[in-house]
Amino acid sequence: MTGERAIRNLALIGFMGTGKSSAGKLAADILHFTFLDTDRVIEARAGSAISEVFAQQGEPAFREWERRIVEELTHRSKTVIATGGGLPVNEANLLSLKSHALVLCLWASPETVFERVRHGDHRPLLNGPEPLEKIRALLAARKPYYCQADVLVNTERRSVKEVAAQVVHQFHIAQPAHP
Ligand code: S3P
Repeated sequence: MTGERAIRNLALIGFMGTGKSSAGKLAADILHFTFLDTDRVIEARAGSAISEVFAQQGEPAFREWERRIVEELTHRSKTVIATGGGLPVNEANLLSLKSHALVLCLWASPETVFERVRHGDHRPLLNGPEPLEKIRALLAARKPYYCQADVLVNTERRSVKEVAAQVVHQFHIAQPAHP
């Protein structure tokens, strides 16, 4: 499946609320890898929360932060990377991640995503009216990008522990020792 590709890292893509950060942290613990969350890197560099970056600098500026961080990741190894939900919509980001990482997409239905994110207010794209409709529309628009992942992991009715175990399993079988 992965041919001659260098797979030094593991990248998690997928919609908001699919558990990229929580499953990613656990997978990193299991693999003894470093965990990196692109949203947290942006917040640290911008000195403000993602919602403030959106409000003060706008979404295009946020996407530019993402693009720059993805570029820097090519030098990393033994890292589990959790990405913001919109990051793979820039196909150059996805290509770059694939040059050094196994890319897994965590998947959940719009209804499940809604249940998981409804009590939070830190996701600027879902703060307007009709969040479920917004989730449906955004998820449908992003599906073609998410489907370019190496592996799709369904997170419906699975605990974080089960998702992390599946992620680690997929990483192990993608190693050259398991062609
Ligand atoms: C976004 C998802 C968020 C964050 C930002 C934009 C998106 O990350 O990057 O609010 O465009 O889907 P999570 O997927 O970690 O919530």
